[in-house]
Amino acid sequence: MTNETDFIAALSDLLGPSGVLRDAADMPRYTRDWAGHELGQPLAVARPATTEEVAAVVRLCHENGIAMVPQGGHTGLVGSAFPGLDDRELVISLERLNRIRDIDPINFSMTVEAGCVLEEIKRAAEEHDCDFPLSLGAQGSCQIGGNIATNAGGLNVLRHGMMRELVLGLEVVLPDGRVWNGLHSLHKDNRGYSLQQLFLGSEGTLGIVTGAVLKLAPRPDQTATALIGLPSVAAVVELYGLARRGCSDLLSAFELIPRRCLELAMEASPRLSDPMDDAYPWYVLMEVAATGPVDLGTMIEQLLENGMERGLVLDGVLASSGAQAEQLWQFRESMLEGQRMHGEHLRTDVSVPISSIAAFVERAETVVAEASPDSEVIAYGHVGDGNLHFNILPPRELSDADKATLLHDLEMRVFAVLDDFHGSISAEHGIGRTKQEAYLQRLPAVERELLQGIKRVFDPKGLMSTGRILPAEGDR
Ligand code: FAD
Ligand code: LAC
Ligand code: ZN
Repeated sequence: MTNETDFIAALSDLLGPSGVLRDAADMPRYTRDWAGHELGQPLAVARPATTEEVAAVVRLCHENGIAMVPQGGHTGLVGSAFPGLDDRELVISLERLNRIRDIDPINFSMTVEAGCVLEEIKRAAEEHDCDFPLSLGAQGSCQIGGNIATNAGGLNVLRHGMMRELVLGLEVVLPDGRVWNGLHSLHKDNRGYSLQQLFLGSEGTLGIVTGAVLKLAPRPDQTATALIGLPSVAAVVELYGLARRGCSDLLSAFELIPRRCLELAMEASPRLSDPMDDAYPWYVLMEVAATGPVDLGTMIEQLLENGMERGLVLDGVLASSGAQAEQLWQFRESMLEGQRMHGEHLRTDVSVPISSIAAFVERAETVVAEASPDSEVIAYGHVGDGNLHFNILPPRELSDADKATLLHDLEMRVFAVLDDFHGSISAEHGIGRTKQEAYLQRLPAVERELLQGIKRVFDPKGLMSTGRILPAEGDR
């Protein structure tokens, strides 16, 4: 086969007409990210519906030297799921591979296909009195394959870990079309190197995940949710220590939210209203969850009293119903939309030791204020993971080009502060294309050589999601 026309014809033979998209009208869904940026143009979009079809498509690409990129719910935030502008990559969408194969409530596991949407997985687990505890704002669109490929984190990591800790087994189509069946349901398995873990966070560069066995937790039969007003980030971190110790490890979320984010949420969702009479500089949205005879309400009340006595807590609302708890979580969700409505802005995803959060925020805020007094810092995140989204809204009046230059400069300054705290430039979103420069600047030579070697073993032809995480071989 020598040309793209023949390749597309062979692809259509494999998948049938509904399995291959080429029309311009179909493309935006596969080429635009969450913020609406047009990120690239594919050769075509392939939509296989079974593992065998994925393997056949990948084999065809491998034989013909066609570059490919797997795509889930395209909610990733580092630009890795989209085709390049002129790379002629084939997008392989997993959206039709969306069956739940099995749920085993005694083993606390379920077997799913990669294209299952996270929210549907959570719902199916609940029907069996189980909980799949990965929770994030994009859960209505993101797919479990994407969650695995990005090693997603989210709101409940402090209790249940990242995606890496929620996978028991995987099925993967390798870049030459071979299928690795590692769909084990074992809670313990120490046989040598963990091939499986290599795929967690690999961002589609080592193969296409087609199925997974997920680890479930018991479904909590009670939760208590509170929004708490505090004077400073230092108070937030101190309260976190009290909450970890005082809540018998039932703490399932502890989110830092600045006042500005509540305002952004109310801008984005006018039906939300200020949850407390007064405004406070910082808030914590926390949740405890349990099964069995535990009095969660008293547990949180005692925490709030204890926090007030120590001057950490200024005020708090404890949700009195499921509906009120949902409304408090609505603030957390809508504040992202509020930021998006402000247009181009810097999104970071950094981590430091929990004990360094307050000092990091203070230093990074100072650095930004000195370099660009009119920019606005919005620092929020997952306190229990030391993970902050230290975001920056640039002055509105700047041109797009000037905003891009300013935000890049500010990102480098924030990362320099982060280096002083031995932090990570990517805590949960991955590297993709957008964090690659900062990642490579900090990647030790030995680590880079080993990672390149791994990529070469899996994908010697360099056809699978090449250029994400590490640069393509020729560009090194
Ligand atoms: P995509 O965006 O489609 O793909 C992401 C990467 O995975 C790409 O490299 C792609 O090639 C690869 N990939 C996708 N499917 C497969 C597959 N089957 N096999 C191999 N590779 C594959 N992330 C967090 O960690 N925590 C959060 O709290 C969080 N909140 C978010 C809130 C919002 C509103 C949004 C828009 C995003 C948020 N994210 C968060 C980021 C995003 O939701 C996650 O990265 C998610 O895991 C991506 O899943 P996806 O299916 O959309 O993947
Ligand atoms: C969040 C995503 C952006 O925590 O990671 O809101
Ligand atoms: Zn996050």
